[in-house]
Amino acid sequence: MTSPARDDLAAVVLAAGLGTRFRSDRAKVMHPVTGRTMLRHVLEALRPLGLGQVVVVVGHQADAVTQEADAADFHRLMTVTQEEQRGTGHAARQALPALDASIRRVLVLPGDTPLVRPSTLERLADADIDSDAVLLSVQLDDPTGYGRLLHDDTGRVVGIVEETDATDQQRQLRHVNAGMYRFDRHVLADVLGALDADNVQGEQYLTDVVGILAERGHTVRTVEADIDEVRGVNDRVELAAAAAVLRRRCLEELMRSGVTVVDPATTYIDVGVTVGRDTVVLPGSILQGRTRVGDGATVGPFTRLVDAEVADGAHVEQSTVVAASIGPDVSVGPYAYLRPGTRLERGAKAGTFVEIKNSTVGEGSKVPHLSYVGDATIGDDVNVGAGTVTVNYDGYGKYETLIGDGAFIGSDSMLIAPVRIGDGAVTGAGSTITNDVPSDALAVARARQRNIDGWAARRRQREEGRGR
Ligand code: UD1
Ligand code: CA
Repeated sequence: MTSPARDDLAAVVLAAGLGTRFRSDRAKVMHPVTGRTMLRHVLEALRPLGLGQVVVVVGHQADAVTQEADAADFHRLMTVTQEEQRGTGHAARQALPALDASIRRVLVLPGDTPLVRPSTLERLADADIDSDAVLLSVQLDDPTGYGRLLHDDTGRVVGIVEETDATDQQRQLRHVNAGMYRFDRHVLADVLGALDADNVQGEQYLTDVVGILAERGHTVRTVEADIDEVRGVNDRVELAAAAAVLRRRCLEELMRSGVTVVDPATTYIDVGVTVGRDTVVLPGSILQGRTRVGDGATVGPFTRLVDAEVADGAHVEQSTVVAASIGPDVSVGPYAYLRPGTRLERGAKAGTFVEIKNSTVGEGSKVPHLSYVGDATIGDDVNVGAGTVTVNYDGYGKYETLIGDGAFIGSDSMLIAPVRIGDGAVTGAGSTITNDVPSDALAVARARQRNIDGWAARRRQREEGRGR
């Protein structure tokens, strides 16, 4: 996928900060938003650019962040450590020695901008190709928190002032720094060496590079971005706002590809979830992780799918499904809980108040009501009566239940595992089955019924005769 045109361009992603305003034990860039960490969103936005190299600067929770960066499985990605977080300029500087000799230009990006899209990064990568410095800027109604761009009388960018260092007058400026830049590699190396930490935060600001370059006579170009792409996420309020934007984007993409999302406001679908044509997602549904839904299915209302596979034409209503596979034309719910390792084959059913884990339910087989099925293999065309339990746990170990094709499990059967019910066998309702049942046999394991004639009438007489 490497585009040869950008072989000499590297990206440096700054991801060493703790993110104090998150008040979290977890490094800021490791917080997930719509199914991916912020860092991963940034890396995925870079992927289509076909860069020559990517360097992630890590610091806080370096091991976890490094692992996350590596998980992106990127062409030529490496991490460098910024031991002490002495500012964005200091962070960028740590990356320079790691750059290959072939790299001539460098994109520098924060790790806390999960909304950025490849097209914007491409514009930054390719704008004014001969410029030594290009920065992404944005006009904001509320510029709070961002570095403000300073211009001279001719409109040249001459510097950036951080909010904490700005005068009241400068704070009125609404043209701000998005925190993403492209530099000539050697020019950047030179200028980073000249940074000081003479500011309110006592940090080496990457933003000061712009002022220094302007002073030295370089022209700093700007590329305009959309706020919905460059928003930095510095606390959990901003995280939720970013999530809303990402979510909307995901849903719009799905709707444009042929999925009906009845109520986007109450539908939560993670980045990376796939949903096929003519599938309808009803309100209150949450689709997460590696979930894949086929064509013509119905999901919801009020359904949560995590790492689930839902085949074409299946219906999943008001249910929770985790790491389970739902075959074509299967019906699930309302109120089913399908746990990891569940596999429902074509046309099967898991109905109301049914919990299934680590089990296969064969083609056309039905578990319609109030059942627990665990560690079981159920053949085709089986009916499992209401209230049936596979008793798979004795307090120490878990045991298997096997039910053959065409078996009929009477309501309220307790199948004490390990146990095997043969093909075509029947268990009587209310039976506690402890022994294997041969094919085509009936197993009844319950006390015989005894009727005592007149008993109820005699009691009535006795009790009512006391004059109560
Ligand atoms: C930064 C910019 C600001 C810009 C805003 C856009 C500076 C000084 N300010 O501010 O002009 O408007 O982004 O979102 O650059 N980091 C490190 N090491 C450090 C410090 C930070 O790796 O020593 C990383 C952080 O993990 C983060 C990124 O750099 O991913 C940006 O740092 P952050 O503290 O969020 O900068 P802002 O205050 O948002
Ligand atoms: Ca930030």
